[in-house]
Amino acid sequence: MELTLTRPDDWHLHLRDGDLLAAVAPHSARHFGRAIVMPNLRPPVTTTGAAIAYRKSIMEVLPDDSDFNPLMTLYLTDTTSPNEIKLARKSEVVYAVKLYPAGATTNSQDGVTDLLGKCLPVLEEMAEQDMPLLVHGEVTDPDVDIFDREKVFIESVLRPLIQKLPQLKVVMEHITTADAVKFIESCNGGNVAATVTPQHLVLNRNSLFQGGLQPHNYCLPVLKREIHRQALVSAVTSGSKQYFLGTDSAPHERRRKECSCGCAGIYNSPVALSLYAKVFEEAGALDKLEAFTSFNGPDFYGLPRNTSKIKLKKEPWKVLERIPFPSGEIIPMFAGQMLDWKPSF
Ligand code: DOR
Ligand code: ZN
Repeated sequence: MELTLTRPDDWHLHLRDGDLLAAVAPHSARHFGRAIVMPNLRPPVTTTGAAIAYRKSIMEVLPDDSDFNPLMTLYLTDTTSPNEIKLARKSEVVYAVKLYPAGATTNSQDGVTDLLGKCLPVLEEMAEQDMPLLVHGEVTDPDVDIFDREKVFIESVLRPLIQKLPQLKVVMEHITTADAVKFIESCNGGNVAATVTPQHLVLNRNSLFQGGLQPHNYCLPVLKREIHRQALVSAVTSGSKQYFLGTDSAPHERRRKECSCGCAGIYNSPVALSLYAKVFEEAGALDKLEAFTSFNGPDFYGLPRNTSKIKLKKEPWKVLERIPFPSGEIIPMFAGQMLDWKPSF
């Protein structure tokens, strides 16, 4: 069996910098036409100038014949100015602004401390410029249980935000719960959408502890209960246009994952398409796969759909055990395991 799909895009990707960037960017460029590139570098990408420079460094590590198009984002801070949004829109390089609540995840220490209190003028300018806000949807209060942080964020931040600024385009990134699905559905199309990662569709929180602690399955938002995984599968395979592909592929050096205080992030770029295909196949919804991988994202962002195609062959293939690079190695999701759908180009 073989599936032909319009070339997919990845609407949520971490490419890093330095030799890690050089090691991972070609994997994404082979599978995807475009990617929304996250700005949580050190220092974060907070200005259009920095985004333009970062895009240039990405292009430099890609093969000469690559037509991969990185769509850049700005990292929102308490002091981002409305004028920066005007510059971003004019640049035709920056396509969105990312909200990290301060302290929520990797390199989020410069993120926002009080969204509506500190960023309202910027958000108004974004609505005006049709610049989407991409949201890491978790509260950071350490007294809130880590498994409830998404649900609490929806009620305390997201709902008030969209009530105040219904014209603002908002993508709730990497949703993980039935509560998020309910919220997205309650927004009923229009300006609110969500990305869903492969790991939140195929794993539940048991995978963190199966046979011992599994650092390579640790990401944020953390994996949830099986009922939540099932709600996500139903949502993406329903055919709703509000969901689209965003891998949240987030490579870390092996030694930063396998240590006493390991980083959050799963490197899934090499396996993402195979896993999405498996999820849709198992739900009997392969006919809905292409809209999720290739249509709903560009339609939401107001960009043209890709015109080239890729193929997925139903054929077993083995995931690499490790991906070496000059200063270490990366362990991909499902390292060394067999998967069923093989991308071919
Ligand atoms: O697991 C994660 N890793 N979640 C995030 O939100 C950030 C990402 C990273 O940059 O490593
Ligand atoms: Zn991310």
